[in-house]
Amino acid sequence: CGIVGILGLEPVAERLVEALKRLEYRGYDSAGVATLEDGGIVRRRAEGKLKNLDARLRAEPLGGTIGIGHTRWATHGAPTERNAHPHATEKVAVVHNGIIENFRDLRRELEAAGHVFLTETDTEIVAHLVTDEMNKGKAPVEAVAAALPRLRGAFALAFLFAGEPDLMIGARRGSPLAIGYGDGEMYVGSDALALAPFTSRITYLEDGDWAIITHRGAEIRDAAGHKVARAQITSSASSFLVDKGNHRHFMAKEIHEQPEVVGHTLAHYLDMANDRVRLPALPFDIASLKHVAMSACGTAFYAGLIGKYWMERFARVPVEIDIASEFRYREAPLAPGGLAVFVSQSGETADTLASLRYAAQHGQHVLGIVNVPTSTIARESHAIMPTLAGPEIGVASTKAFTCQLGVLACLAVAVGRARGTLSEADEQRLVGALVAAPGLMAEALKLEPKIEVLARTLAKDKDVLYLGRGTSYPLALEGALKLKEISYIHAEGYAAGELKHGPIALIDETMPVIVIAPHDRVFEKTASNMQEVAARGGRIILFTDARGAEEAGVKTEATFVLPDMPATITPFAYAVLVQLLAYHTAVVMGTDVDQPRNLAKSVTVE
Ligand code: G6P
Repeated sequence: CGIVGILGLEPVAERLVEALKRLEYRGYDSAGVATLEDGGIVRRRAEGKLKNLDARLRAEPLGGTIGIGHTRWATHGAPTERNAHPHATEKVAVVHNGIIENFRDLRRELEAAGHVFLTETDTEIVAHLVTDEMNKGKAPVEAVAAALPRLRGAFALAFLFAGEPDLMIGARRGSPLAIGYGDGEMYVGSDALALAPFTSRITYLEDGDWAIITHRGAEIRDAAGHKVARAQITSSASSFLVDKGNHRHFMAKEIHEQPEVVGHTLAHYLDMANDRVRLPALPFDIASLKHVAMSACGTAFYAGLIGKYWMERFARVPVEIDIASEFRYREAPLAPGGLAVFVSQSGETADTLASLRYAAQHGQHVLGIVNVPTSTIARESHAIMPTLAGPEIGVASTKAFTCQLGVLACLAVAVGRARGTLSEADEQRLVGALVAAPGLMAEALKLEPKIEVLARTLAKDKDVLYLGRGTSYPLALEGALKLKEISYIHAEGYAAGELKHGPIALIDETMPVIVIAPHDRVFEKTASNMQEVAARGGRIILFTDARGAEEAGVKTEATFVLPDMPATITPFAYAVLVQLLAYHTAVVMGTDVDQPRNLAKSVTVE
């Protein structure tokens, strides 16, 4: 969820919505704002996308000059108007990002004391808890001070109080919260991006901090209630919202941008004139690494999985990779001095962040590969290697993924060189290959018209299987994820060799099987798996190169032929094909491509 607050000199409702639009990546299933009118709390809320809230506000405008707003990704309670934030009593309104873990106990206690709850959310108890303290005679600041220590979980909160037109309170535990300084106005927001149209002067609250904000400034206190000073920075977040250009969806634009942004990212880590890798100075020695632990979620996890293949092959360092929600609770033993790598587009994913903290506590060097350099993961990492993908708006990640691959490949080559497992000639050969990747992605984009034709058939299917070996295996997983995320067609990715251990039972003449098989050193093995599919009448759709097409030896429903390329860079070019296929299938299905149902761009709760 995303939260925002403005202590303004003019009516704030419109600007709250403007800021919420910039936070939609955090969820978009309902939204709301609250302001003060004649000292009383008034709210407008709406189910669904922000445009519904916009319409509601046009029909019933709000005039208050202080207000809070929220865009929601439902955890507790369905995404209805009633469950939409802000939640309020007569005395206090609150917006919340995160989860209050002990809300059931608190709710029982408050109900026993006579409080009546109207929603299924965990957030509503926060409003009642503060109200309860105020009913005992406490002023707003003291009431919040008394309520915060009773909350368990990870959250960010912003409070607005009836009869207090010059007071807002923000609190952060686990989820990020930024304070913005304007001219006579003050702001709070989940990130600097939300506040960019209003100010670039930002202070990030630290964990446990809470802030008492008036039009003149903010007093920040730590968890123990002591006044603390936190640095003010100048945020570089752009106030321009990126537009779609000539494309129908952000996702299409982002797929097409890949040759450029991957080129840009590679140029940052390569000395192209000398065919060398050039990493930023790192606060640890990569030559002496004995072990790498990686962790991420969703698409970033699959990028990490491809990175593992490269790191182990080029640098001969064992890499353990986990889904972050597993890693954080698995209690993995980590020998001190290892490298822990966290891959995240947003840099805010709650599970990835928790994994990072676990690794830091266990003596690991923490490297963040992030697309948002001001994010929490970026700030808590010991070093970062940014992906230079630019803002990614489509919820289904595309260009961030291929840029993550670019960074991971450079890292693997650099570690290989430092450890002596790659020679200078190897490095030159690999760098030469990486430099060719953007051009080959552009070649892949040329197959779009043919993919569109295939998408029309695929849109009629209920289940799709993706197969691959080696680095094409994580790509099969990513292809299946992309398709299910945006077209809602059920899809599974499998290691081609695993086909015979289960999924083969699904194969009949209705089952489309997408095989990602460049002619690399495992091609023949994958070709055998294609035979197994063909023998059972499965419909094969083959992504390969000229040699692969010639040697596949099976009848396919469609074959897509990319140029020959070094094995190291096949994931870059073949990723474009699976992305285009998912995209066009979703377009045929008529789904909301950029904001698919139930998903959020950045999942800031666990
Ligand atoms: C969400 C998004 C995915 C993304 C994942 C990890 O589930 O919908 O597209 O891959 O989070 O996000 P991150 O920002 O950490 O890369």
